[in-house]
Amino acid sequence: MTTAIRYYSKFGNSERMAQVVGEVTGAKPASVETPLTEEVDILFIGAGLFLAKVNGRIKEFARTLNPGKVKKVVCFGSCALSDSPVPQLRKIFEELGFSVAEESFTCRGAMGPWHGGHPDAKDLANLKAFTEKLVHGK
Ligand SMILES: Cc1cc2nc3c(=O)[nH]c(=O)nc-3n(C[C@H](O)[C@H](O)[C@H](O)COP(=O)(O)O)c2cc1C
Repeated sequence: MTTAIRYYSKFGNSERMAQVVGEVTGAKPASVETPLTEEVDILFIGAGLFLAKVNGRIKEFARTLNPGKVKKVVCFGSCALSDSPVPQLRKIFEELGFSVAEESFTCRGAMGPWHGGHPDAKDLANLKAFTEKLVHGK
């Protein structure tokens, strides 16, 4: 199974999460500034929320991709106030014709005094378990 990992990370939270996904899958995480040219079975895409929105670079990145060359998109992210950045990620990719997995991963991400320390070790362990189940079925 071929996997790619891309993220937009302002404070490094999605980047740390992407590293965990990379440890499980063997894929090298990179920001959305890094083009994806190869065909993949799974593209993991991650982000946080700022002023209730995912950054516009995610959509710009999605527009560079061919839905025929990405079998499935898996969304992950963190945020402090809202439920999750995942619905926005899902919408961006679905509107462009990608198949987006039902499964996704969200945890808290610190914003000043809110949820300090998140994503923490437990969040990252949960993400590891999520990724292992998704990719290796265990
Ligand atoms: C300036 C600022 C604005 C934020 N705005 C929101 C927001 O509107 N809603 C929310 O749920 N989280 C908000 N957050 C929390 C971020 O989504 C959270 O820190 C996330 O983990 C950041 O991920 P990143 O470091 O990968 O970009 C905000 C954080 C900061 C620092």
